Amino acid sequence: MNTSDQLIIFDTTLRDGEQSPGASMNQDEKVRIAKALERLRVDIIEAGFPIASQGDFEAVQAVAAVVQDSRVCALARALDTDIIRASEALKQANASRIHTFIATSKIHMERKLKMTPDMVVEQAVKAVKLARKYTDDVEFSPEDAGRSEFEFLCRVIEAVIAAGARTINVPDTVGYNIPQQFGTLIRRLRERIPNSDQAIFSVHCHNDLGLATANSLAAVLEGARQVECTINGLGERAGNAALEEVVMTVRTRQDLFPCNSRIDTTQIMACSRLVSNITGFPVQPNKAVVGANAFAHESGIHQDGVLKHRETYEIMRAQDVGLSANRMVLGKHSGRHAFKNRLQQLGIDFSIEDELNSAFRRFKELADKKHEIFDEDLQALISDTKLALANERIKLLSLRVCSETGELPNAKVVLMLDGEVRTSNDNGSGPVDAVFRAIEVIVQSQALLKLYLVNAITSGSDAQGEVTVRLEKGGRIVNGQGSDTDILIASAKAYINACNHLMDTDARQHPQIGDV
Ligand code: KIV
Ligand code: ZN
Repeated sequence: MNTSDQLIIFDTTLRDGEQSPGASMNQDEKVRIAKALERLRVDIIEAGFPIASQGDFEAVQAVAAVVQDSRVCALARALDTDIIRASEALKQANASRIHTFIATSKIHMERKLKMTPDMVVEQAVKAVKLARKYTDDVEFSPEDAGRSEFEFLCRVIEAVIAAGARTINVPDTVGYNIPQQFGTLIRRLRERIPNSDQAIFSVHCHNDLGLATANSLAAVLEGARQVECTINGLGERAGNAALEEVVMTVRTRQDLFPCNSRIDTTQIMACSRLVSNITGFPVQPNKAVVGANAFAHESGIHQDGVLKHRETYEIMRAQDVGLSANRMVLGKHSGRHAFKNRLQQLGIDFSIEDELNSAFRRFKELADKKHEIFDEDLQALISDTKLALANERIKLLSLRVCSETGELPNAKVVLMLDGEVRTSNDNGSGPVDAVFRAIEVIVQSQALLKLYLVNAITSGSDAQGEVTVRLEKGGRIVNGQGSDTDILIASAKAYINACNHLMDTDARQHPQIGDV
């Protein structure tokens, strides 16, 4: 594939995706997702915003150290401090990129940056030149390009290309554009800017009007050759363009698109589930490509058609997105070796023997309750094991719930809080309510429960339930997840997981808020 035929896939699940309220991930989770993205053959992984916090810095470092086949990118505002920090975090990367940005719309320059257009151009150029001292691969984004004045956008882009930017990313930061308009913008920029042939044009679309994928694809038809996207469309507010939608559209409509990506589409489903499992953002059943119903045919006419000839109602094959991977992979009699092997295939390594032993013990316990263990079960089990081993302030030691017709449900919970064993007991209007109240007696988070969701990880009544809990306190939103074949235990784990996140006070800077 020559460069003009290749559509570069730039995944920003670990950066913009993490900006979804409550979707923060720890270092270990980011590394697991990065490995899954590498298996997916993503070209570039935006691993984070190193200046945001020490945790972000270390997570980018950890991703840079393990990823071999994808380029690892770090975000930096157009500031010396940010760029130097990004370059330090990327030191161990096999291939690295610094992505620097500054806002170019009138409203952002006047109201947020309080800078004149001349100052913005000067700062953008200075930032790109500094970034080029650390790497040849520098990407520049004029933030809020979708609402920027065209002539000014041309001026900034021409200047940063001359300064050494090799990718120009055009963000529709607030998801304001519509497809024809956005496609035209990309074409006009490429036509008007004299040195535009020295850079690859990229797009980064937000989904506020539900148009992120459509806008990205319209831009590709007009010459953009990089799309920035996220797994499951995760991202700030309504999210970013969904990787799976962009990739599968371009692949399915090769009659229209003059390019294609290198993505191994059979990894899409596994990656989607992993991201949903780690972030606690469930995938809606009717979500394109990765939703539970995406390949399910309900109506009799459709079922009949598909059985006679699949293409009557299906434009993609379920196997092509990795759906057939939902098969039994391990069972009660599987040994430690098979277990370890399967985890390695899923990109999960336990460097510490004790951790592997603990995961294997949990696997055996699960296999006793549920005789078919799928990849999805393993992913949930690993998240659970890692949580249990992590240095969390609150841990669940035991739970007993009584629920009987005509009686108020009661829960007795034993927790470890900061190393001390604590017991409590409470009633609730239902068993889940009783569990959460009993936990609250000890933890006293006083947070508001914003979301409670149960999802069966696989099919069958012996499936593990995966519970998502979203809590809000003082404007801060956190998600928690837990899984178990017993959904009350899964609920307790999810609530405790969310409380642990609330207690984590690693203060992060938001990349797009505040002064430059
Ligand atoms: O939406 C946006 O403008 C961004 C930039 C940092 C590229 O996320
Ligand atoms: Zn964004």
